[in-house]
Amino acid sequence: MLSMKSGPAQSSIAGKHALSDGAASSPVPSAVRPRRLRHTPTLRAMVRETQLACDDLIYPLFITHGTGVRNPIASMPGVFQISVDQLAQEAEELAMLDIPAVMLFGLPATKDPIGVENFADDGIVQQAIRALKQANAELVVATDVCLCEYTDHGHCGILNDPEEQHAHLAKGYVLNDETLDVLGKVALSHAGAGADIVAPSGMMDGMVGAIRTALDSQDFSHIPIMSYAVKYASGFYGPFREAADGAPKFGDRKTHQMDPANAREALREAAIDVQEGADFLMVKPALAYLDVIHRLRSHFAELPLVAYNVSGEYAMIKAAVAKGWLDEETVVLEKLIGIKRAGADLIITYHAKDAARWLSR
Ligand code: PBG
Repeated sequence: MLSMKSGPAQSSIAGKHALSDGAASSPVPSAVRPRRLRHTPTLRAMVRETQLACDDLIYPLFITHGTGVRNPIASMPGVFQISVDQLAQEAEELAMLDIPAVMLFGLPATKDPIGVENFADDGIVQQAIRALKQANAELVVATDVCLCEYTDHGHCGILNDPEEQHAHLAKGYVLNDETLDVLGKVALSHAGAGADIVAPSGMMDGMVGAIRTALDSQDFSHIPIMSYAVKYASGFYGPFREAADGAPKFGDRKTHQMDPANAREALREAAIDVQEGADFLMVKPALAYLDVIHRLRSHFAELPLVAYNVSGEYAMIKAAVAKGWLDEETVVLEKLIGIKRAGADLIITYHAKDAARWLSR
């Protein structure tokens, strides 16, 4: 680092310039000076290329049975599992913060191999949808459509039993087409309860088409599908699995979620979902996959692109902030603008409320 006391070095630099002739008045040999446009806050705002606004944000909510419940998630400070009676207040707070949308995850009362509460009329998410829409009809309610929070085995689909089902597939293999039937039922049930958007997250082949067919068959052709089109088998979902109690009891999700090494395959996944009628595409997680967001942005420019800034990405910042190692407002706004700069239109993030507060200052 240069110190003010480095007298000899400074004077020798100054001396050199003093000795050179015409160049002396222009130590930078160019008229091009990008710093001119950074000189004042107003100038910087005028030339800012990417904007982050409250209406880019989608706030995830974890809904649980009971009344008066607000269970903190240890690995996600500031995030709670909440009961349905808390949702009116939640909707009011989100409206005040100008956050337009939520993504709902449900914790069922009991779990079973199929997850029947997932498509029950009085299921936890169905109750939550009604409560939120009653509190604020303007709030856009999106719902996660997957099996893992509802199944006793914690997997995202129906599991194979080689003796009864597919002899040539392993025991416990997540069955694709059997799962599609359940996903269709869940999406219909959510739409019936008043959801504005359904968001299948299980990475089953054909999930968008199956859900589109199910919705259209019951006069829900107006309900858009936000496809978790490009979802990687990621370690960054760790804290979420505590929050949503959806960890697999054995094995992993690598036979359906994508390999983190693959980007061309992301284009293939997205192309299939576009063809099946997806209305939004999503990349998940966000930060280790900014290049994938960028590729989808350029290949599928016509569709709104969503990035899921996942639980582990939230937890890392929260942990470093708690230790005093990072300034929360600076790094959160920096990463959110980074996700937008990469090409996302919308960001699902647990930081949404804090970000909205900082943005509206
Ligand atoms: C599956 C689902 C997961 C997340 C969203 N939907 C977990 C998984 O696939 O294992 C992760 C979200 C996060 O980490 O914030 N229903």
